This record gives sequence, structure tokens and C-alpha cells, in this order.
Amino acid sequence: MEKSSIGLIGLAVMGQNIARNISRNHKISVYNRTASVTEDFLKEYESNMLVGETDLKAFVDSVASPRKIAIMVKAGKPVDMVIEGLLPLLDKGDTILDFGNSNYHDVIRREKELADKGFNFFGCGVSGGEEGALNGPSMMPGGNKAVWEDLRPIFESICAEDFDGGKCVTYLGENGAGLYVKMVHNGIEYGVMQMMAEAYETLTHAYGLNPGEIADIFEKYQTGKLQSYLFEISIPILRKKDESGKDFLLDKILDKAGQKGTGRWTALDSLDQGVALSVITEAVFARTVSSMKDKREVFSKLYDKPKPNFETPLEDFIVELEDALYAGMLVSYAQGFLLLKSAAEDKGWDFDYAEISRIWEGGCIIRAKILSTLHTAFGKNPQADLLEIPEIAKDLSDSLPNFRKVVGECMSNGMPLFCLSSALTSFEAMTNARGSANFIQGQRDFFGAHTFLRTDKEGVWHADWHEGGAITKVK
Ligand code: 6PG
Repeated sequence: MEKSSIGLIGLAVMGQNIARNISRNHKISVYNRTASVTEDFLKEYESNMLVGETDLKAFVDSVASPRKIAIMVKAGKPVDMVIEGLLPLLDKGDTILDFGNSNYHDVIRREKELADKGFNFFGCGVSGGEEGALNGPSMMPGGNKAVWEDLRPIFESICAEDFDGGKCVTYLGENGAGLYVKMVHNGIEYGVMQMMAEAYETLTHAYGLNPGEIADIFEKYQTGKLQSYLFEISIPILRKKDESGKDFLLDKILDKAGQKGTGRWTALDSLDQGVALSVITEAVFARTVSSMKDKREVFSKLYDKPKPNFETPLEDFIVELEDALYAGMLVSYAQGFLLLKSAAEDKGWDFDYAEISRIWEGGCIIRAKILSTLHTAFGKNPQADLLEIPEIAKDLSDSLPNFRKVVGECMSNGMPLFCLSSALTSFEAMTNARGSANFIQGQRDFFGAHTFLRTDKEGVWHADWHEGGAITKVK
């Protein structure tokens, strides 16, 4: 029997859908730890392009050499356990592929460990959820370049298309580069989702709209500059009624959000890199606060909050909010790309930011019209920071008055705005040539003789801050 081009371990929904997607063009073998899952899958999707094995050795033997075996199991220990089980059955030169949301540190470690033993390990971020996995995800591969060339035909046959019909996959760099880009993608996903939730919350509490009415507004946004997958899916989410057919389901969903960790990893990495990733970090905090439901219930009874009283008529607010969301998203992307740049320098990756924007145009969760703006902007200014690219600066400047108005009105009415307000603060601070850190330096020098630099004189200085105390050049 002709051997399969690739194997896949892990038949949860994402694994099943990727396997079905691959099987349209390449013969694929599948394996799942629980044999009945493999059997049921094969029964349901019988095809001569799909081979299922319930024995791991038989599965490995059914894949053509040098083997490519993809793992799609829960990130972390389960991936290491699958690798451990696989290695004795593989031949040197075989490749293990990680299609899960693995931490990039793990990818770097695994690639090194496996290379020392003569195997390849290749990490590829896959975005697009269940539907994307089946019909075309955005793919973010990283690892050995020669291995990439070998994998490329399979990846290009399953991925989504960008706005010009190109493939939503591009080689991103060595070792953990692909999963790093996927991590930042997820961080941006957190930020955008939170800003949308803030818009929903404001329209609900300040304007008293029901989810159906908010859906109508989001539907309008979906025809303009905010057009995106996340707005697209929000419309049916907002409109969905419960079993009674009368009430909105959203009104009955507990306001506690889960998180699997990629947003947190992005925030943690930004602290390590020294990049001010405030929007994504605040989105993680927002989920944390959401999970503190019991405390929120208690605290809400202790503080009297004024009923929101927005002066802006709804039809004007909708227009302002669109600008605020757009500007907030641009700032969030700007921060995400700053993190990518810093990581590229730190880890020796050579990221092409126009390409990263392009492969996010299709298939992935953050796919949006805004990405074509970023793709074009980086195309003309490959290494620039987003905020210094003229087209982006113009878009931001145009949206700024409404961005400030929305944040101001929400804050003065007691609405919590984790991401929209932090995006605005970040923008205001990043565009201030003269900030307030001179004051911090004064305090640091006072209590710890930490010294300071001056704007009027060269050298490193220390002051005795008491009246009449000396100001000394220490270096
Ligand atoms: C994607 C998604 C996917 C997953 C998130 C959810 O790109 O397809 O990002 O990876 O849905 O990891 O993350 P949280 O559970 O942390 O919200």
C-alpha cells in the first residue's frame, strides 16, 4: 500500500479538521491515544486519502520516509509525552511537527533536544479555530529552512488565502519563530476582543441597548474600516436567542472569561523584552478581573456608582466609537509589532512585518481589513514602527479626537475601559517628546542616589536635594 505523505497525532476537533483538510490533497495517516476516537473518525470520514492506525508503530510505519509527523495535542507536557513515545519508532532525519499552541520556549528546547538526537522538530502556529483548520487556517511556521521547503507543498495546499489570493503561510525563521508570531497573534486577539467587549458594555449600560440593537451597530461597522472576522462572528453571537426564543442568550452567559495562556505569555514576554505592551496586558487583566466574580459582587454593593449619563446622542456616539475602536486597534497592533521587533533582535529572527501582516489577512482569528492597511504600510516601510508610517499616522490623527472623546466620556461615567483607555494612554505617552520621568528620576536620586542625566549639561549627576545641597557631576 502506498505510504502516507504525513502523519497526525491527536484527533480532537482541530486535529480532525486539519487531517480532513490535508487529505484533500495528500494522503495522511492519523493516530489518537484512545483508539475508538480514531475508529469513529475513520467511519465518519472514510476516504482512500485517510489512513487510521490504532497502534503507534503501525501508524509510524504507514508514513513515507523521511517521515513528517504532526502533533496536535494540548500544549505543554502532553506534547513532550507524545514526542517521548514517538522517538524510539522514528528514523534519524524524520521530522516532528508541532501544530498546537506551544510555548515558543518549549519549541526552542525541543528543536535543540531533537537535533542532538538526529531528528527535526518544526513548530507551526495554526490559527482559525475549528472552521479554519478545516477550510484554510493562517499558518505561522518556524524551524529549519530545509525542513520548511519539504513541508511547504503540504502547508500551501491547506492554508487560507490572503486578500490577493496568495497563501496565508510564510517561513518566519528558525526554531521558535513561528510559535512566537502565533503567540503575539493571540495576544492581539485578546486586545481586540476586549476592546469590542468594552464597546458592547458601553452600549449596553450607557445607552441601554439590547444585544440585538448592538448587533445592528456592529453590522454597520462590519461594512467599514473595522471589517473583520471578530465583528462578523459577533453579529450572530449578539442576535442569538435562548431556548425560549425570546431572550438574548448573551444576557444569560456568566461574565467570566476563560484563558488558556497565550495572552499571558505575550504579556510576560513583553516584560522580559522591555516592551510596553499595555493593551494586551490589560486584556489579560480584564479576563482576570472577570474571573473574580464573587469579589466583584461584594465590592459592587459597597460603592455607589452613578448611573451613566452620556451627553453624546447615540447616533453620534456610534460614529465616535468606530473611530475609537479603530485607533485602539492600530495602537494595539503597533505594540504587538514592537514586541515582534524586539524579539527578532533578541533571538536573531529576521521577521518580515509586511509578510506577517499578509498571512494574517486570511484564515486566522484576527483577520481584518486593517491588516491590508498594515501589509501595505510595512510593504513601503519594512522596518519602520507603525506609528511612524505616514498612512498609519494619518489614520490615527483622523481618529484621535473621537478616540479621546469616547475614552473621556466612558471614564467620567464610571465605565471600566481596560484596553481602549490604555491604548489611548500609550498613544499619548509615545507621542510626548517630554514626559514626566524627570520627576521619577528626582525621587530615585533622593532616596537611593540613583543619579540622573540632564538636558542642559553632559555627564551623570547626583544632588543633595535639601535646600542648599550640592549638585554634583559624578561621571
Ligand atoms: C486561533 C485561536 C486559538 C484559540 C485561542 C483561545 O488563533 O485559532 O487563537 O489558538 O482559540 O488559543 O485562547 P484563550 O483560550 O486563551 O482565549
